[in-house]
Amino acid sequence: MLKINPYRPGAGLMPPYLAGREADIQAVEQMFEALSMNIPTQSVIFSGLRGVGKTVLINRLQRSAEERGIFCKHIEVEERKDFISQIASCAQGFLRKISTRENLKYLIQKPLDAIKALVISFDPENSTFSLSMQEQELYRSTNLTQSLTDVFTALGEAAYEAETPICFFIDEIQYMKKQELGALIAAIHRSNQLGYPIMIVGAGLPKIYKMLSEEKSYSERLFMYKEIGSLSEEQAEKAITEPVRKLGAEYDEAAVKRIFGTTRGYPFFIQQLCQIVYENAEGSVITEEDVLRAEPEFYRVLDNGFFKVRYERCSDADKKFIFSMVRCGELPCTISNVAKNLHKRVSAISTMRAQLISKGIIYSEKHGELDFTVPEFDGFIRRHPDYKQWLKDQF
Ligand SMILES: Nc1ncnc2c1ncn2[C@@H]1O[C@H](COP(=O)(O)OP(=O)(O)OP(=O)(O)O)[C@@H](O)[C@H]1O
Ligand SMILES: [Mg+2]
Repeated sequence: MLKINPYRPGAGLMPPYLAGREADIQAVEQMFEALSMNIPTQSVIFSGLRGVGKTVLINRLQRSAEERGIFCKHIEVEERKDFISQIASCAQGFLRKISTRENLKYLIQKPLDAIKALVISFDPENSTFSLSMQEQELYRSTNLTQSLTDVFTALGEAAYEAETPICFFIDEIQYMKKQELGALIAAIHRSNQLGYPIMIVGAGLPKIYKMLSEEKSYSERLFMYKEIGSLSEEQAEKAITEPVRKLGAEYDEAAVKRIFGTTRGYPFFIQQLCQIVYENAEGSVITEEDVLRAEPEFYRVLDNGFFKVRYERCSDADKKFIFSMVRCGELPCTISNVAKNLHKRVSAISTMRAQLISKGIIYSEKHGELDFTVPEFDGFIRRHPDYKQWLKDQF
């Protein structure tokens, strides 16, 4: 008989039961409530390590916003894709929406001009607009901040007049270029000052907090920041047990404890482990035995997928840096201990460190301290033959 397996391990896959985020959802829903009444609202930024559930959380929030009549667009920033063309096409989407209402057509020209100027000046490959030479000269600008601010304020004004507030959901903010991020913050800031109902809900790796405040010091006041992390034992229990309740299965207490211990409440690992446990469990009550039997497969799947893709993005020099981190024993470790393990000076390894941070493999929470962006990555490295060889070569 085909068994329905409800667990959903995978980037951005909505879990069958979204555990432990009730308070965050409620807080943002209150902001949406205000926004839907045309009241300008603070923007929100969620930060957290890989796989803690940022994407699913902002997708869930997008649903809430849409239910309140807010115009929503999701942007996933990519390392190689251009943010300007993405935001421009979202802005056009808004204009298309209000253009269907006859009495609102007059609102379109100003934001459309601002979008045109932005695209012509900062996304030259884009062929959305075909302009004569003379027109091109009229629209061209060299100031990204000014151009994006023009788009946001013109859009905000139209949103206000049309009583259709806007929320952009921007995922993977850490991939935004420095200049783009600065321009985005300034644009939101200005539209807030003018009282327009336009906000963003963003998400990214922990380093975005620093990126934002380095870019503009006032960004600390502009955004509501929330760091999201692993689930508590109580929350994890719900993530584990709720999905199979409807299917007539349950976990005994020891099984839940074991899953929590192995996954440490990390949402992606919970989905992955439970999927394997449930697949192979025979009775309708899942026991600790079932979990223990599933664990080798769980680590195999992670080692060959989740961990491997990250490891393979590293150069040989990166790998040595990672090995030295693992050798420190405890994480987070200090950059000076990593340097010691590499027999180098701290200044000599700072480029390597920056490279790994930019690849999203490691992050630095406190000054001088380093950790991996995914939990248990150190365990994976310890199991890896390359690490074992490197250790041997050290002595
Ligand atoms: N609150 C939650 N309860 C149960 N499962 C969750 C929860 N949040 C996320 N998950 C599960 O965890 C996995 C990762 O979620 P998601 O892709 O949203 O993480 P992320 O933080 O966006 O990761 P990345 O930084 O890699 O983009 C998915 O399989 C999802 O179903
Ligand atoms: Mg994500």
